[in-house]
Amino acid sequence: MAKENKNCNLKEYSFATEEIPRLSINNPETDKRIADGLPVVITDSGLVQSALHWDLDYLQENIGDGKFTVYKSNNKRFQYFDDKKVDSCKDFQKPMEHMDLTFSEFVSKLKTAKAGKDRVYLQQALNEGVGKRIVTDFLGFNWSWVTEQQKKNKFGALTSNLLLIGMEGNVTPAHYDEQENFFAQIRGYKRFIMFHPDQFKCMYPYPTYHPCDRQSQVDFDNPDFKRFPKFKDAKGYETVVGPGDVLFLPMYWWHHVESVPEQGHTISVTFWYKAGPIGNINYPLSPQQKVSMMRNLEKMIHQALNNADEVPEFMQNMVLGRYTDPPS
Ligand code: FUM
Ligand code: FE
Repeated sequence: MAKENKNCNLKEYSFATEEIPRLSINNPETDKRIADGLPVVITDSGLVQSALHWDLDYLQENIGDGKFTVYKSNNKRFQYFDDKKVDSCKDFQKPMEHMDLTFSEFVSKLKTAKAGKDRVYLQQALNEGVGKRIVTDFLGFNWSWVTEQQKKNKFGALTSNLLLIGMEGNVTPAHYDEQENFFAQIRGYKRFIMFHPDQFKCMYPYPTYHPCDRQSQVDFDNPDFKRFPKFKDAKGYETVVGPGDVLFLPMYWWHHVESVPEQGHTISVTFWYKAGPIGNINYPLSPQQKVSMMRNLEKMIHQALNNADEVPEFMQNMVLGRYTDPPS
């Protein structure tokens, strides 16, 4: 479904990508990829079939009178940041503004945003505040399939279903999440560019104490190869998802997400699951386990030093000339 609408208006980047497979729910390869922690687009899961009629008018009428988290950006990038880490990071400029709006206020902003300016992106967990018809649609999701996947793959608890409503052209810059995600597309088209966790060294994440922890410092539109030379070696995967498609987005996989330009706004719902219990440790460790280990060590060092400014020199002293020499 998504296929025929792609490739028009899609930006070319400096790195090569391979297509993420689009498979049926009945194809054994689908379950195998999920079990192996590999991304796959499932074309016919019916996960959000009961919500495929959602549009702005229907949601405005039925979603309720509460306030919704909406981000505003003066460019197309909606870079997530952790508010709790802002104060400890001097000179940090918030990349987007957080607003709490009613759904109607959001829709009027979405309709009046000028090209490239005052863009908005609604990102709100679906919760009890929603109206009856939305509850009925929600209960109609294909819970049996997704819960079976959760069990089979030993994922932890479902943490949230985030409703995302974006303007065409909105971009969520490259980052990784620490949860498994079945990403369900309801309306419009989203392009996902993804990188395996083993590409960590090419992606240059911000330090863990930084508000943009888990995000790449590389600007895909204008990569600074002097600062981030290994980004030249990055090899990605990509796909465009459309209504009814579900992308399995494994934990620790980097993803950059674009609402495809000139295809209208996008509506999506995430199904986020905590990581499952750590089983027996087998060696060699997986790239995912190594990323998790690096994060924990980095956080410990920062906590012990109690001063972010001391971290770079401390880390360099630990490795310089001992672990940085070319192998003999
Ligand atoms: O913009 C997005 O749809 C982002 C999704 C995600 O980061 O999981
Ligand atoms: Fe994400």
